[in-house]
Amino acid sequence: MTVGIDKIGFFTSPYYIDMTDLANARNVDPNKYLIGIGQRRQSVIPQTQDTVTMAANAAAEILTAADRAQIDMVIFGTETGVDNSKAAAIYLQDLLGISKRARAFEIKQACYGATAGVQMAIDHVFLHPNSKVLVVASDIARYGLETAGEVTQGGGAVAMLITQDPHILALDGQSAFHSDNIMDFWRPLYRQEAVVDGHYSTDIYIDFFNKTWNQYCYQTKRTLADFAAMVFHLPFTKMGLKALKSVVADADNANQLLHEFDFSTQYNAEVGNLYTGSLYLSLISLLANSDSLHPQDRIGLFSYGSGAQGEFYSGTIAESFDRAKLKRQVDRLLENRVKLSIPEYEKMYQSGLPLSAGEVTFDIDSDQSRFVLRGRHSDQLEYV
Ligand code: CAA
Repeated sequence: MTVGIDKIGFFTSPYYIDMTDLANARNVDPNKYLIGIGQRRQSVIPQTQDTVTMAANAAAEILTAADRAQIDMVIFGTETGVDNSKAAAIYLQDLLGISKRARAFEIKQACYGATAGVQMAIDHVFLHPNSKVLVVASDIARYGLETAGEVTQGGGAVAMLITQDPHILALDGQSAFHSDNIMDFWRPLYRQEAVVDGHYSTDIYIDFFNKTWNQYCYQTKRTLADFAAMVFHLPFTKMGLKALKSVVADADNANQLLHEFDFSTQYNAEVGNLYTGSLYLSLISLLANSDSLHPQDRIGLFSYGSGAQGEFYSGTIAESFDRAKLKRQVDRLLENRVKLSIPEYEKMYQSGLPLSAGEVTFDIDSDQSRFVLRGRHSDQLEYV
């Protein structure tokens, strides 16, 4: 029996800014953002979208009625929780009409949470082959206006259905992890924006990648030659490139891995950081845009969550994978976005989530997405 990603869906806000506009507004050479950081555009999240609605919008496009009835576990990876107690997964299960016999819960470990969910889902399906597990990764990345991290903001959600005999990527449950108590990036409860030691965080990321990659090779006896491509958690696309370059230097297939890496960054460069979803958007980007991958090709995945947890694992492309369908879905979503000027973005950013206390009602007519946040009344979030 094989187990893995059977379906994958993506959603991001209908609004974006251009990184050249941002650079000009901040008196920075645009090439720093475009080349040095590797980002072209950035999603801007309106008041009417939060992690729950973005996850619901990502999942709604992939789930059939039969899936909704068969799903027996809903795992929500996020570090942008909407409540300190209640799991975002419960709202999601309700909005999507998923069976009430399902387990539904949330996992938090910075950008790593959804990977823990994927691994748990694989184990669950191996034990219960007829079950289907919905794993979502949904976040909003906020560092603050005019900060060094501003160019690495963004947001969105990826939804994955984990089943037996998957149609996209078979996963074997073999992985290597590393964790340590590191203060590189964190989000204190009293703050609306992340606290980050930016350069330190990039060093730790590369260190964790090397540790988990070496451990993975030792455990599995695989080498770079076994991989057709590698995808990374991409807080910004240059980060993954630095990590990849740290191991490929002497590999015979270095050029191929670097070539495929370009495909794996196409969508991330348009959206920005999705925290938990960034690795899985990179996987979508590779699978949808590369025309040189084949069934059975092995893809490596590096997941990183500040604080910090790293994990390296891999999967093989399914025979029945439909590249054109995936590409159509994501291209359509990104092509239909509306560009904001920098003053419009700053206004939207300042009015954006997280919500401060009080009653709020949003203009939901301004957002044509299938699921939106209408507001909050009597301390209860209202989704439609
Ligand atoms: N043309 C081309 N390149 C230029 C340039 C120009 N005119 N000017 C600068 N550059 C290059 C620099 O040489 C540098 O490249 P290298 O790193 O390859 O040397 C790059 O642009 C960035 O320049 P700086 O390092 O000077 O940029 P900065 O100090 O303004 O900050 C940052 C960059 C640290 C990434 C900052 O944006 C930040 O703090 N971001 C948030 C933290 C983050 O994303 N960390 C990633 C690891 S942690 C993680 O992965 C979890 C997570 O999701 C947060």
